[in-house]
Amino acid sequence: MQLIPSSLMAIAATLLLITNQGTTANAAATTKVDPKGWYQANPGMTKIGRVNQTTHQIMDTFGRVRFFHGTNVVKKEAPWYRSFDFKPGDSFGEEDVKQLRDLGVNSVRLGHHWAGSEPVRGQYNQTFLDIMKKQTKLAEDHGIYVLVDVHQDVLAPQLCGHGVPEWFVKPDWVPSYKRFPVPQKISPFKVDDRGIPSTEDCNSLDWSLSYLTVAVCNAFGRLYNNNDGLGDALALYWKKLAQEYSTTTNILGYNLLNEPWVGDSYADPTLLTPGVGDRKSMEPLWNRVTTQIRTVDKETLVWFEGATYDILSGFNNVPLGDGSRTVHSFHYYKPPQVSSLSTTLTNRQKDNVRLKTAGVLTEFTFWMGDQKQMDDLQTAVNTADEHMFSWMGWAYENLYNTTSGKPYPTLAKHYSRAYPAAISGTPNSFAFNPSDQSFALEYVVNRAVGDAPTELILPKPTYPNGYTVTISPADSLVQYVVDDRTLALFNADTTKDGQVVKVSITKK
Ligand SMILES: *[C@@H]1O[C@H](CO)[C@@H](O)[C@H](O)[C@H]1NC(C)=O
Ligand SMILES: *[C@@H]1O[C@H](CO)[C@@H](O)[C@H](O)[C@H]1NC(C)=O
Ligand SMILES: *[C@@H]1O[C@H](CO)[C@@H](O)[C@H](O)[C@H]1NC(C)=O
Repeated sequence: MQLIPSSLMAIAATLLLITNQGTTANAAATTKVDPKGWYQANPGMTKIGRVNQTTHQIMDTFGRVRFFHGTNVVKKEAPWYRSFDFKPGDSFGEEDVKQLRDLGVNSVRLGHHWAGSEPVRGQYNQTFLDIMKKQTKLAEDHGIYVLVDVHQDVLAPQLCGHGVPEWFVKPDWVPSYKRFPVPQKISPFKVDDRGIPSTEDCNSLDWSLSYLTVAVCNAFGRLYNNNDGLGDALALYWKKLAQEYSTTTNILGYNLLNEPWVGDSYADPTLLTPGVGDRKSMEPLWNRVTTQIRTVDKETLVWFEGATYDILSGFNNVPLGDGSRTVHSFHYYKPPQVSSLSTTLTNRQKDNVRLKTAGVLTEFTFWMGDQKQMDDLQTAVNTADEHMFSWMGWAYENLYNTTSGKPYPTLAKHYSRAYPAAISGTPNSFAFNPSDQSFALEYVVNRAVGDAPTELILPKPTYPNGYTVTISPADSLVQYVVDDRTLALFNADTTKDGQVVKVSITKK
């Protein structure tokens, strides 16, 4: 799309030269590479466009391939958002987005709890939604994309979980002797007058095993089967969110529901077979929700999840069948995953090919632990580069040493890796080397992108004394330092479509 205007510009420039025969035109005057001018003409962030269904990579509206390094910000209890006032690990305000930006993060998966948004059925809490929008805007002001995430774990407070509003679960859905957490415990928990068990009882459970209780399976089944219009209610909540965000620049996508359970496996045990819950339970609901989203927003990417223990995705198709407007959002924890991250990413890429869409690792272990866990984290982020996958760590709240109020250096350094946030072409490979902080990128130039530059994030904490850039062929790209973390690389006039360029960065 950009091709036509730039060629017109080139023709105009040539005409100008012809008509100005009297003056001596030097080479510089004919060049259209004007980094400063480009940034003046294109201020702020760039909207996310579509998925390239050949390369399975996310593109922005210029057609650049985009990569994301991010973190999760989710408040799992009332008031369902983190405060604006800085409190290391438990806030999400100006200071937080500044620190994340300086670390090198360019995206946040931000929890938009249904419980906070629709406390009374059919009545949205605009005060709450405005708070979420304000936090999203703060992120935009600091160059950070937001993945709008409707989060849940074990669904509802009546089930010792969180996510849906209290009105969602009805006490008489299962016979009294089978109520939560049968059969994880032999008898049901005592509940208060709102139907909610005590914190002490809830804390006695392994939450992830709660998905195997009769009551939790039943509740998920009702969501998927649209019992009492519950699937429609989720769809209408998403329509509301899409109305709020459809014109917001820094929206990375709509993450429909975090870690959805497979459904009512007591009614249909086949749902427990890997892949079956995806197509039988989730796919119809994702279609129902996306149909509502698309009544108000035709463009924003819809991010959908499958069962957390999938080996290969079981979906027949992406929501509404258009993989150019979807992203498969998946997590890696071991368990429930059984293989290495490398094997999982190979499988997720097979899913991308089959479903003609993109995939992003939206959660993995990113908190302090023993030496093995720290080694695994290092391996994970290196592996993501090798497979060219974007990632978001779990979670921002774990980044800070609450005694010192400072990020743990052993975690922060991974958020501060060098990476290509935007590529004006198709990447062949990129890699950050943690032992000497060097970075290498190789890509095939795509001139159809127009003038929009490749952008590398080279965070200050990793390059405190700056960096040296080597480009091959040397004259193929024009360097421009945008700010203290961003290096832009513009195609030189002579750089051709399909040309392979290599960029390497070394630490000063
Ligand atoms: C998608 O990627 C392929 C392979 O690099 C490229 O040829 C094509 O132009 C890209 N499509 C778009 C719409 O950018
Ligand atoms: C709406 O959200 C605001 C902000 O969290 C909260 O103070 C208020 O109590 C909520 N209203 C209802 C009816 O829950
Ligand atoms: C957290 O910070 C405190 C105070 O600076 C320090 O003594 C402690 O060693 C830090 N903990 C870790 C695990 O780094």
